[in-house]
Amino acid sequence: MNCKTPNPMAFDRVNQPLCFPSLGCLHLVVGCLPGDKLLKMNSTEFWDKRSQQYDNAVRKHDAAYDRTIETAKALLSHSDVVLDFGCGSGEFGLDLAPHVRRVHGIDTAARMIDLARDKAREREIGNTAFDQKDLFDRSLDNQTFSSVIAFSVFHLVDDAPTVLARLNDLLATGGLLISETPCFAEKNWLLRSLVTLAQKLGLAPKIRSLSSGELESFVSGSGFKIVESRIWDERKALQWIVARKK
Ligand SMILES: C[S@@+](CC[C@H](N)C(=O)[O-])C[C@H]1O[C@@H](n2cnc3c(N)ncnc32)[C@H](O)[C@@H]1O
Repeated sequence: MNCKTPNPMAFDRVNQPLCFPSLGCLHLVVGCLPGDKLLKMNSTEFWDKRSQQYDNAVRKHDAAYDRTIETAKALLSHSDVVLDFGCGSGEFGLDLAPHVRRVHGIDTAARMIDLARDKAREREIGNTAFDQKDLFDRSLDNQTFSSVIAFSVFHLVDDAPTVLARLNDLLATGGLLISETPCFAEKNWLLRSLVTLAQKLGLAPKIRSLSSGELESFVSGSGFKIVESRIWDERKALQWIVARKK
């Protein structure tokens, strides 16, 4: 096994193993770390810094990626105007774009947006727009989108119910939310401890340890009716949730 720097996103898209020399007293170590003295990075800085690495990984299109694209394609139609929330380097949005009317990707990390725009140009995909924008930006109008894709992002936001309520507002009535989210609360203490340690070391952004039940209740409590909820990839603790705006 090739041991690399601990990277909790390894359980997201990047298929790198997490390796630590000693795991026995991890809880103790994590509890004793002087967080204020360790590298502190906000989420946007983190994703800006990791943008190229993330893009290199997501471009590889592993089996989970292909399954997500195929399933999302079957849920979308050529008339759909899609918001790609937390679009990252745009890989999903770009692959879905030929099957819908328009994709608008937003992300707070400028370098992710640069990569997405470069790829749209290189691949000559004309029906996409990528903007460095917060979800609450006033330029986004209510009821403008017929679908939202939100892949690997709900575990990164501070207030998932507020984010879900905003997505609900941006969708037209009957609009579809298609999401997949790492739910780390479903994993064992070891993984959760590794994630906490990586955050303390500045190697990971702030990650919320959601359970699938908690995420489902956030979705259904934000004006959505859940159409489908299932474990998408057990190893990565990915929960797939499709929900329709009521
Ligand atoms: C794990 S990446 C996922 C990217 C893409 N959705 C994918 O699945 O390939 C998470 C992305 O969400 C973005 N992000 C995190 N919090 C955000 C927020 N509050 N608003 C917009 N983007 C956010 C990050 O900048 C990062 O690019």
